[in-house]
Amino acid sequence: MARVFRDLRPERDTVLVSIMEHHSNDLPHRKHLGRVIHLPVALHADGMGCVDTRALEGLLKQEQERINYVAITGVSNVTGIINPVADIARLAHEHDALVLVDGAQMVAHIPVVVSGHADPVEDVDALVFSGHKTYVPGSPGVVIARKEHLAQLEPEEVGGGMVERVFTERYTVSQHFPDREEAGTPNIPGAIGLAAAIEVLDRIGMDFLVEEEGRIIDYTLDRLKSIPEVEVYGSTDTGSCPRAASISFNLEGVHHSMVAAILNDYHNIAVRNECFCAHPYVIEMIPDQAAEYIAMSDEELAAAGMAKPGMVRASFGLYSTQEDADALIAALKDIIRNQGTYLPLYRLAESDHEFRHTTFRLNAEEFSVPDIVSRVIGDDGRTSRRSSE
Ligand SMILES: Cc1ncc(COP(=O)(O)O)c(C=O)c1O
Repeated sequence: MARVFRDLRPERDTVLVSIMEHHSNDLPHRKHLGRVIHLPVALHADGMGCVDTRALEGLLKQEQERINYVAITGVSNVTGIINPVADIARLAHEHDALVLVDGAQMVAHIPVVVSGHADPVEDVDALVFSGHKTYVPGSPGVVIARKEHLAQLEPEEVGGGMVERVFTERYTVSQHFPDREEAGTPNIPGAIGLAAAIEVLDRIGMDFLVEEEGRIIDYTLDRLKSIPEVEVYGSTDTGSCPRAASISFNLEGVHHSMVAAILNDYHNIAVRNECFCAHPYVIEMIPDQAAEYIAMSDEELAAAGMAKPGMVRASFGLYSTQEDADALIAALKDIIRNQGTYLPLYRLAESDHEFRHTTFRLNAEEFSVPDIVSRVIGDDGRTSRRSSE
C-alpha cells in the first residue's frame, strides 16, 4: 500500500506514522515514500494513551500540501491500546490525506468497520491484516482497499493471473478485482482456512468477543496493578483508553527476558518479551532502561553483547480465561518472592542475548527435517526409492 499511495500521489512525499506502529507499518513508508513524520501519543495522568489527535490535526494543517497519507494501527501490539480510527480518518480526509490502517491486532479482537459509516469521511482508504494473527497460521495477509485507488494504477505486483493478454511488446492488465492484484499462485488453502476462521468469529459475534476479552483484560490489569513490583505500560484506565489483545509490563529488578524464561520454564506460561517489533514505541515507554542502549552506536551495541531493553507481553484471545489471568498473577508473585532462587539459575546467552536456564536444554539438533523424513518413510525406503529411480 505504501507503493500504491506513493504512485497514486507522487507529488506528496510525506507520511504521518504513529509512534505506536509495528515496524511493518513504519519501515515500508520510510523506504518507499522517503519522508515520515512520527505522530506522538496523548499523555494521560497514568501513562501513554492512543494517538494524539490534536498533534495529528496540527501536523495535517502544517504539512497539508506534502502529506500523502496517515498510517495508523487500529490496536497496538504492545499495549493493546485501541486507536480512534474513525476520528483519525475524519481528520485526515478533512485535510486531503488518505488513511491506511494496520488491522493485524484488530480483526481477531474487535469489530472492524472500513466503510459504510453514516458519514463516509470516516471510512478508511485501506486496511491490512495478517491471517496468522487471526488464528490461521500459514494463511495469507489481506488488503482491503478502495478499488478507485487501485484501479488508477498498474498493480504493484505483476505476473501470472492478473493479465488478459500478453504479447512480447505489451500486456493488458485485467480490470477484474481481486485477480488483478493477486499476481502469482494464490495461497488457496490458507485463504479458505482464513475465511473459515472469520466465519467462526462472525458467528460468535465480535461485539460479544470484544466484551468478553475486555472483561478479562480489565480483570488482569486490576490484579497486575495490585502488585507493587509490576509496572504496566500505557494508561490502564480502560474507560478513557480502551484496550484489546495485549498487556505489556515489567517486574522491578528482574530482566524481561528472565521473567519470560521463568514463566515458560517453571509455570508453563508462554509470553513474548523485548520490543515486539515496535522498537520506537517501546523505547519511548522505558526511557531509563533504554537510555544506555539509545546512546550507543550500532558498532558499540554489536560489541557490547548486552541484553536489549524491553518488556514482557501477555496476549489474550478467544481461548483466554480468568483462570489464565490468575495463573499469570500467581506466577509473577512466585517470581518476585523467589527471585533469589531463580536468578542464579539463568545466564545471558551470547548468541541472542536472552536469558537461558543453565541446565534445562532444548536440543535444536533433535528437530531435524532429514530425521523426521527418515522416521516417516525410513532410511531404507529412501535408499530403495533412489536406487529404483
Ligand atoms: C500490529 C501488527 N502489525 C503488523 C504485524 C506484522 O504482520 P506480518 O508479520 O504478517 O507482516 C504484526 C505482527 O505480526 C502486528 O502485531
